Amino acid sequence: MPAGLIKDDVYAVGAVDWNERRFHGYTYVTKRGVTYNSYLILDKKVTLIDTVRKGFERELLDNIKSVIEPSKIDVIIINHIEPDHSGAFPEILKICPKAKIYGTEKARQGLLKYYGVSGDWTAVKSGQNLSIGKRTLDFIDVPMIHWPDSMFTYSAYDKILFSNDGFGQHYATNKIFDDEVDFAALMDEAQKYYANILWPFNALVSAKLAAISKLNLNIELIAPSHGHVWRKHVAEIMQKYLYWSSHSCKDRAAVVYETMWHSTEKMARKIVDGITSGGVEAVLFDVTKNDRTDIASYMLDAKGWVFGSSTHDGEMLPAIAGFLHFLKGSKAKGRKSFAFGSYGWSGEATKDIEDTISNITSFDPSLRVVFNPTEEELNQCFEAGRAFALKIKSEK
Ligand code: FEO
Repeated sequence: MPAGLIKDDVYAVGAVDWNERRFHGYTYVTKRGVTYNSYLILDKKVTLIDTVRKGFERELLDNIKSVIEPSKIDVIIINHIEPDHSGAFPEILKICPKAKIYGTEKARQGLLKYYGVSGDWTAVKSGQNLSIGKRTLDFIDVPMIHWPDSMFTYSAYDKILFSNDGFGQHYATNKIFDDEVDFAALMDEAQKYYANILWPFNALVSAKLAAISKLNLNIELIAPSHGHVWRKHVAEIMQKYLYWSSHSCKDRAAVVYETMWHSTEKMARKIVDGITSGGVEAVLFDVTKNDRTDIASYMLDAKGWVFGSSTHDGEMLPAIAGFLHFLKGSKAKGRKSFAFGSYGWSGEATKDIEDTISNITSFDPSLRVVFNPTEEELNQCFEAGRAFALKIKSEK
């Protein structure tokens, strides 16, 4: 995508990775692709905010060249060092070796470890700023949004918050602004992003939002380093971050299961019917057929979490084990759960489920059946689902 003007003398110059489908290794399925956003500010000191992933240097440089010769960059701000933002840094540094670099001390240390270079670095933290001409850029530490080195950069002159990973979406398009793309898709990706990137850091996100609110920044644009620039929906995405980071939940349930010979699946379907009959939305996820990214996104604000697995070799099945291992890192709070599953002779899967994520949710007694559920046992599953719905609705 060519460079795009987001405000007078402020350009989006990043890269679009249309075909990325597995972000963070295997953990995050990005069905709509990814963008690595960088921003170029033309002022007395020409300033580049963040770079892009290795392999996208050409696109970044071509975009910068369409505005100004890259060697004229005076200042590079590194808001975050994860390789999706810093991979092109060594290449950019070669082109403008005299550029002054600004970022946190942790970022400097991380860049040295990754690439062996950090350039002419000035370590900055909250409360410090940098004059680049007409503009003064303020730095705001935001540790764990998304790594310990992370920071935001704010331009009061432009009323832009450059938020790096914060407020991102993995959503590749050839548009820049939030109001140029489908709103439902945008918010779907924003929620998926929060669930899969920031959920474990709710307490820090919440505290940092409160601290930023006290700064009374005038924010017209939020320019993240993934996805679209928030222009029309700044208030909505801020409100969503307050909601998600507060562990708020809706009265709805996810029933996530893995089955060998469909017995556990039969139980799952009856449980979903029971929950629905009790007046609570429920969605069924076969963990072998759904991406964990999507399941986690639904579960982010679902109060009810129900897990099922057949017992195999004395344990739960491997796909649900992998999903629960992933989920327990979320540090979620305020959920209600029970486990279920079929078994042949030992039936350890339900206890295995409970033991794996007892750090983030509490379990009601489990439901287990031998081999294949009878009609009576299926009725018990239905009733368990119905009772679970009533519990979800009654406990606030
Ligand atoms: Fe988009 Fe934490 O990197």
